[in-house]
Amino acid sequence: MSKRTIHPARSLNGGLEPPGDKSISHRYAMLAALADGPSELRHFSSAADCRSTLGCLRALGVEVKTEKDRVGILGRGPGGLRSSRRALDAENSGTTMRLLAGILAGQPFFSRITGDASLRRRPMRRVVEPLRRMGAQISARDEEFAPLEIRGGKLQPIDYSMPAPSAQVKSAVLLAGLFADGVTSVVEPVRTRDHTEIALAEFGAKVETEGLAVRVHGLGAGQARCLEPITFDVPGDLSSAMFFLCAGLLLPDSNLLMHRVGMNPTRTAALDALSSMGAELKIVSLGCAQGEIVGDIAVRSSRLAGGVIEGRQVAQMIDELPLLAALGPFTEQGIEIRDARELRVKESDRIAAMAENLRRMGARVEERPDGLRVEGRAAGSLRGAEIDPRGDHRIAMAFSVAALAAEGPTVIRGAECAGVSYPEFFPELDRLVER
Ligand code: S3P
Repeated sequence: MSKRTIHPARSLNGGLEPPGDKSISHRYAMLAALADGPSELRHFSSAADCRSTLGCLRALGVEVKTEKDRVGILGRGPGGLRSSRRALDAENSGTTMRLLAGILAGQPFFSRITGDASLRRRPMRRVVEPLRRMGAQISARDEEFAPLEIRGGKLQPIDYSMPAPSAQVKSAVLLAGLFADGVTSVVEPVRTRDHTEIALAEFGAKVETEGLAVRVHGLGAGQARCLEPITFDVPGDLSSAMFFLCAGLLLPDSNLLMHRVGMNPTRTAALDALSSMGAELKIVSLGCAQGEIVGDIAVRSSRLAGGVIEGRQVAQMIDELPLLAALGPFTEQGIEIRDARELRVKESDRIAAMAENLRRMGARVEERPDGLRVEGRAAGSLRGAEIDPRGDHRIAMAFSVAALAAEGPTVIRGAECAGVSYPEFFPELDRLVER
């Protein structure tokens, strides 16, 4: 395990192009594997999580070629996957496991899918339950956890009203819906990221969205209809860009320009929250390419008021919440996060990890079952400390940002876990930081 020392910085300046979006990359790789012919995915995510998806697809007999950030995938149609002799390994990636479970539910063979110790602790009943209702036979350890054993086959469509917001669950059901005879519909309680819906349409599937409902048409008996292969440029990952964006807000005299960042409105809630807290953010160009919105964002140092994040906002900025909590001590009123119990079952218990490590840096934090309250500037400045990110990429990067604006050096234990979503994070930080 590598330790990385982060020293306080004066400012952050320059241009940045974040890696391809992780959520989008998973989906396009999986759909390309089901399409009829060769797809090319450019600016594909460099995240270890997306490598896990490619590894699983290879194990299912799919030809995958990678060259730098280009991935070529030769799909052999919706019936073209082959049973893997060994267990599929999703490693640390919840998206790989949950979305692939949807596809495997529609395959006429047995699959076993597992992951690392963190993923084997995360809840899976949320996908097992609707996929069983569609007719797949699935067993899970203690009815909840991976490894999952999936005996798939012909599925029946369902109308699924989701009990809790989750883009992964919605996506698993929609992907399984491709293998169902008829129209599968999913209704979400809150609109979550809609990359799967956009991707399905791009690959030529029939998909309709109406309010909070999404419907997908099955590919027909014997998968009579096919998905079309595509060439696609993956937009930059806004959730990764956010770490630099927030560092730019915190450090005085910062001026950052982030290029080709994915700005899908189902992903920008954290940007809206920061703007309403006083962040100086400018969207300097905006365009739409193949259904996804992409833009450049200019960032300047700002004074942040802080505030409360709760209710429907939570699902829409779930991945950004650790970072926003880490900004708390630098804001006027502090940051309070409510209704976010879901954070406890991410790659780590993110509420506990944030509370513990913020306290190590001297912050005043109240931990609650569904969130936390982090006191603002009046409670004193943060000081460098040794941080245990619990192997969780977003915790490691959130504290690296806080460390830049703290007093004295901070040590991040096992910092290499950042590679789960952003392998270039530390080199990019070294490049942009001025001391
Ligand atoms: C993701 C959905 C979210 C998010 C995760 C990626 C996706 O998870 O936290 O990092 O790509 O669909 P949930 O669906 O569990 O909220």
